[in-house]
Amino acid sequence: MANCSTDVCSYKRAWALDTRIRNYIHDPYKIFGDYIKEGQTALDLGCGPGFFSLAMAEMVGEKGRVISVDIQEEMLQMLRDKSERAGLKSRIIPHKSQPDKIGISEMVDFALAFYMVHEVPDKKNFLSEVVSYLKPDGKLLIVEPKFHVSKPDFDSTLKVAQSAGLKQISEPKVLFSRAALLIKA
Ligand SMILES: C[S@@+](CC[C@H](N)C(=O)[O-])C[C@H]1O[C@@H](n2cnc3c(N)ncnc32)[C@H](O)[C@@H]1O
Repeated sequence: MANCSTDVCSYKRAWALDTRIRNYIHDPYKIFGDYIKEGQTALDLGCGPGFFSLAMAEMVGEKGRVISVDIQEEMLQMLRDKSERAGLKSRIIPHKSQPDKIGISEMVDFALAFYMVHEVPDKKNFLSEVVSYLKPDGKLLIVEPKFHVSKPDFDSTLKVAQSAGLKQISEPKVLFSRAALLIKA
């Protein structure tokens, strides 16, 4: 994940987000398997090439849906190709967003923002929009890379999350990362 700092991580570096070893470092089932149930709608914000979207699609099952959002069409194309190969295409809705507007039309049970919030220009606006998509008991998991996001910077993101209408309920442990599980305040 080299060079994906506060700039947007280019699709040219997507390979680094999708390595076999990442399954061990960032095992999706261990990180958020407890938060997603069959039949639910999950949102993968800044999905990149879809490392987490595919696992989410397995977790929601045939009746569930995953909305995978990214600002880079190239990332979404990688996700489409991968989900087709995995036989999970029908459960995944790729959505091209704008840096300042997500723009989906569904409410979600669970939203994931993995290694992407530090790339968002207006965090307050972004997180407020995420809140508007959360069902009443919906959850948002923010995970940021320790190597790009300092503790004070992460704390400041959490303050912004609070001002956007979110409340932290736990601090999950994720390798090499800072993480917070949030619900609507
Ligand atoms: C470092 S990558 C992480 C990808 C994926 N979440 C993962 O962990 O494998 C960050 C992704 O967020 C996307 N991104 C950056 N700003 C965004 C925004 N405002 N809205 C949606 N996606 C964004 C980038 O295009 C990139 O694909």
